[in-house]
Amino acid sequence: MTDLILGQLLIFEDDPFGPEPWAAARHVRRGAIAVEAGRIVQTGDADALRAAHPRARCTDMGAALLLPGFVDAHMHYPQTAMIASWGKRLIDWLETYTFPEEAKFADPAYAAEIAGRTLDLALAHGTTSLTSFCTIHPASVDAFFEAAEARGMAVVAGKTCMDRNAPETLRDSAQSAYDDSLALLMRWHGKGRARYAITPRFSPTSSGAQLEALGALWAAHTDCLMQTHLSEQVDEVAWVRQLYPEARDYLDTYEMHGLLGANGLYGHAIHLEPRERDRLRETGAALVHCPTSNTFIGSGIFDLAARAREGQRLALATDTGGGSSFSMLRSMAAAYEIGQLAGTALHPAQLLWLATEGSARALRAEAEIGTLAAGSMADIVALDLASTPAIAQRARRAEDPWEALFPTIMMGDDRAIAGVWVGGTRHDAGAAAPDRKT
Ligand code: GUN
Ligand code: ZN
Repeated sequence: MTDLILGQLLIFEDDPFGPEPWAAARHVRRGAIAVEAGRIVQTGDADALRAAHPRARCTDMGAALLLPGFVDAHMHYPQTAMIASWGKRLIDWLETYTFPEEAKFADPAYAAEIAGRTLDLALAHGTTSLTSFCTIHPASVDAFFEAAEARGMAVVAGKTCMDRNAPETLRDSAQSAYDDSLALLMRWHGKGRARYAITPRFSPTSSGAQLEALGALWAAHTDCLMQTHLSEQVDEVAWVRQLYPEARDYLDTYEMHGLLGANGLYGHAIHLEPRERDRLRETGAALVHCPTSNTFIGSGIFDLAARAREGQRLALATDTGGGSSFSMLRSMAAAYEIGQLAGTALHPAQLLWLATEGSARALRAEAEIGTLAAGSMADIVALDLASTPAIAQRARRAEDPWEALFPTIMMGDDRAIAGVWVGGTRHDAGAAAPDRKT
C-alpha cells in the first residue's frame, strides 16, 4: 500500500552554510511524498507521483509545507513539568527547581506519566525525534524508551550520571553509573528506533573517577552516543576550573577521560577557548545550540555563524526545561535573534536545516531522520504557513518560499502544525488517534 501526502516541499540538496543558503533547497510548489511501509520511497511533483502511484491513498495538505519532522538534539524530559520556572541562573536553577523535580523520578509511575506527556507535547509541536537526558534512576530511562516505542519515535536517551555536587538521593557512584548505563545500553541501544547516549550530566556533578568509568564504557561501545553539557555559563566554567585544576580547560575534563569523540553531543558550548574549538572541530563532535535556554537562564550569546565558518558540526535543541519552549520553531526564532546579537542574520534555510538534517547529522542518524530522501523513515511534519492572522497577513506578501516560511519560523507555534507523521502513521488531532500501548 502506498500513501501519498500532498503539499509544498522544500528539499535540501546542499548544506545551507555555503555562500548561497537560499539555493541549498529545491522548492516544489505542488509536491508529494510517497510512503510505503513507513518509509519515504519518492518525493517530487504531485501530478507525476499520482500518475506513478494511481492506487495510492492520498492525504492532501493543501498549501501546507511538508518537511522532515523536527529533530531536537538536546532536552531533559524530566524537566517538562517545571518548564518556565522563574528567576534563577544555572547553578541555583539546578538546585532550586531541577534537582527536586528530578528526585520525583524515583517513582517509575511518575516517570512514565512525564515521558508520555513530553513525547505528546513534542509531537504536537512537530518534533518527531528527541535526544533526552533522563534522571539518575534507571527506570526513568526505561520509561522514556517505552513511551517512544509506543509512539514509534526514534529517540536518543541515557541515564544521567552524577556522583557529587547533587543531593544525596540523586547521586550514584562511578561503579553504579557504569553498571547501570551498561545494562541500559544493552537493553535499549538499537532496539527498534531507540539509541543510547552515555550521559554524564556535566563535569561539576561527576568525579574524575566517574568520567573515567563512562569514558571506558564509551570506548567499549563506540556506536553509542555520548551527551553532556559544556561551557554554558561563565560561573560554571570557573567552577570546573577549581574542580579540575589539572585540566587544560573545560573540554579537557571530558577529553582526558575519553569523553571527546565524533559521536559526542556537547550542549551549549558557548564560552569556549581556542583550544577547545580546535579539538571539537578536529574530532567532529557536535555543538548543540540551545537558544531559548541560553536567553532564559541568562547563559550568553552562542555565535553560531562563527562556529559554522570554522567548520564545527552544529545542531539545534530546545533544552527544555532550561529552554522556555517545546517548539523547534521557537528555537529557530531564538537562534535567529541570538544570531542578530552576534552580528549575523541566519537565513531561514540555515535555521530549518539545523532543526532537521543538521541535528540528524549530529546524532549520526541522517540516513533515517531529518531529510525527505528516499529510504528515510516517513517522519514528516506539515506546516501551515498562515496559522494565525498575524502570520497570514505577512506571509501573503511573500515573494519567494523562504519569505513565506520566515513569519512562521519567527511567530509560529503548535498552531502551525497541520499534520505529523511518525514512520508513516499520522499522529495529530487531524487524524484518528493511533493505537498506543502506554
Ligand atoms: N547543566 C547541567 N545540567 C543542566 C540542565 O539540566 N540544564 C541546563 N540547561 N544546563 C545544565
Ligand atoms: Zn541540558
